[in-house]
Amino acid sequence: MAKTLKVGVIGVGGIAKTHMPGWAASEHAEVVAGSDVFDSALQAWGAQHGVKKLSTTAADIINDPDIDIIDVCTPNMYHSELVVAALNAGKNVICEKPLAPTPEGIHKMIEARDKSGKLLMTAQHFRFQGSSQAMKREIDAGALGDIYHARSWMIRRGWIPARPGFVYKKNSGGGPCIDIGVHILDLTLWFMGNPKPISITGVAKAPLAKHEGAFSQWGLAPVPKDMDVEDFASAFVRFDNGATLILEVSWLMHHNTEGEDMQMWLYGTEGGSHWPKSEILATNYKTQQFTNTQLKLIADKMEPHALECVEFARCVAEGLPSPVPAEQSLQVMTILDGIYRSQEAGREIRLDE
Ligand SMILES: NC(=O)c1ccc[n+]([C@@H]2O[C@H](COP(=O)([O-])OP(=O)(O)OC[C@H]3O[C@@H](n4cnc5c(N)ncnc54)[C@H](O)[C@@H]3O)[C@@H](O)[C@H]2O)c1
Repeated sequence: MAKTLKVGVIGVGGIAKTHMPGWAASEHAEVVAGSDVFDSALQAWGAQHGVKKLSTTAADIINDPDIDIIDVCTPNMYHSELVVAALNAGKNVICEKPLAPTPEGIHKMIEARDKSGKLLMTAQHFRFQGSSQAMKREIDAGALGDIYHARSWMIRRGWIPARPGFVYKKNSGGGPCIDIGVHILDLTLWFMGNPKPISITGVAKAPLAKHEGAFSQWGLAPVPKDMDVEDFASAFVRFDNGATLILEVSWLMHHNTEGEDMQMWLYGTEGGSHWPKSEILATNYKTQQFTNTQLKLIADKMEPHALECVEFARCVAEGLPSPVPAEQSLQVMTILDGIYRSQEAGREIRLDE
């Protein structure tokens, strides 16, 4: 089948590499253009992937009438401006997480999306993993009943992206909340059916980053002394359906994990669950027995960063809704922003007043 949708990638660094196999595998879309502020990196990327339309000015790609999809893979601070410009130019847009590091940035994108009538998707790749798909299917079929509590964490030990795009607020918008909190929080809310948050009590601080000799296992890089984002955050969130959530994130914690510990427990009236083990825990009240059931996993068709691109192209081609709508990313960012506001105020932040 001819690939009818033409894709332009903006920002050809680390994460863009994980999208390329998806565009290559898509039966609907192919990458024909790229933009990056670093010309040498852009030329090397173009040569590697056989992409000839290359420009260090993103507007050249955004305004190219032959392009249907823009894939935004730049650092967080550029997302909002690029996404809005691309939507205004009539393109469908997939954008890396966080969609924007503030709720205001996402509001602007939603406005532009609604004016353009095009699709906007946040690249939340964990949703496309087999373990997530299996869990979501089971939860939607009612296995947990009403979910009344969740515990989620994404904790790393000395695994901080010690790069300017991540450790300075002006570039990233925040620390692990914004970098990895978006992953576990998006997944948790999605499993919970995206209830509306009504209050947040949060703490966000940097108890370890300022240690003399603080370092990242990632390339054994030192943590920049002037890093101005948190290295740890925790929160208690209430939702309008009465459910609650406890969230913990860190880049540096003294936690016994190699690399990263990412887990989620959900507790419902009919059962509990663990992700990524994909286990459902239930109680037979007649026999007074507990059952733990391992879900049959949906096999990963391909790496989830790639699969999200395949799915986005399919939705554009078939006129389907966005697989990860911006409204759900707005909910995620409203909670993360609430953590920062709660830290600053030293009290609970209510969203329903
Ligand atoms: N989903 C995931 O698992 C995951 C993992 C890592 C990063 N990310 C996200 O991907 C985005 C990029 O992160 P990365 O790790 O690839 O960073 P990176 O620094 O490796 O790559 C970013 C690229 O964007 C380019 N760039 C910067 N400003 C630009 C602009 N205005 N126009 C065009 N190009 C520009 C840089 O030169 C660089 O090549 C971030 O939003 C990050 O949160 C997601």
